Amino acid sequence: MKQTYLILGATSGMAKAIARKLAEQGHDLILAGRSEGETGLLGADLQARSQIQVKTLAFDAGRRDQVSGILEAARTSNDGELPEGVVLAYGVMFPQTETEKDPDRMVETFEINFVSAARILQDFGTAFAGRGRGVIVGISSVAGDRGRGSNYHYGSSKAALTAFLDGMRHRLQGSGVHVCTVLPGFVDTPMTHGILDPNSPLCAKPEQVARDVLKAIRRRRGRIYTLWPWRWIMMIIRHIPEAMFLKTKL
Ligand SMILES: NC(=O)c1ccc[n+]([C@@H]2O[C@H](COP(=O)([O-])OP(=O)(O)OC[C@H]3O[C@@H](n4cnc5c(N)ncnc54)[C@H](OP(=O)(O)O)[C@@H]3O)[C@@H](O)[C@H]2O)c1
Repeated sequence: MKQTYLILGATSGMAKAIARKLAEQGHDLILAGRSEGETGLLGADLQARSQIQVKTLAFDAGRRDQVSGILEAARTSNDGELPEGVVLAYGVMFPQTETEKDPDRMVETFEINFVSAARILQDFGTAFAGRGRGVIVGISSVAGDRGRGSNYHYGSSKAALTAFLDGMRHRLQGSGVHVCTVLPGFVDTPMTHGILDPNSPLCAKPEQVARDVLKAIRRRRGRIYTLWPWRWIMMIIRHIPEAMFLKTKL
């Protein structure tokens, strides 16, 4: 059945792939992002390829008015109806060498990746529960599974997001609302260009992540790792004894 999905951070590598897959399935889209030029181009391309309606919204997670207003903005752009689902796909990962020197930049990581996300998820979770149905997909990260010296500023923002999504799923079970926590490992997107080897077998293409996300929506899965081996890799990393972990340079 044709439904409408709101994608927050629609210009992200993963979001574009998820938007393409949703469009292929015939769903209408509301693309929200900082660059109206880019969301407009993406929307025009999706509309040309698939017979769907695409709306765009200006959205900057660093602007409190846009964060607290996104639910109403989405409802207004969707002819007064809440969208069927929301995909939260924005995030920042500044080099930790930079955030260690600049605590304001560290706080910005928490504000973008967690504080704004929590506000939006809370609003949509409550509204969807009131309606008795809805889909919430939050892109967190395996970096939140265990704090590492080289990346714990970003990692802790994602740990908070993971716990929020997991807790919201627990709270809303039985309400008709499906909350999915997505835990990507390495993904070949602009966020990781120059940091990761895109040819590594552990580095996913955004299209692979999108396939996993769409499958999780279809099967109403609560938590997914993508690519799947990351579930086992992170289980091992979480269980390394602290004394041994401290000797590593992760
Ligand atoms: N790539 C990986 O290996 C990896 C692994 C695990 C998790 N993740 C997570 O996956 C999600 C998607 O990231 P990606 O890998 O697809 O990276 P990406 O292509 O670099 O996308 C990041 C997105 O976040 C948006 N964004 C940044 N600050 C924003 C703000 N203040 N307000 C609104 N949007 C903002 C960017 O918008 P602009 O286009 O306007 O800059 C961009 O669309 C992120 O949450 C990331 O943390 C990524």
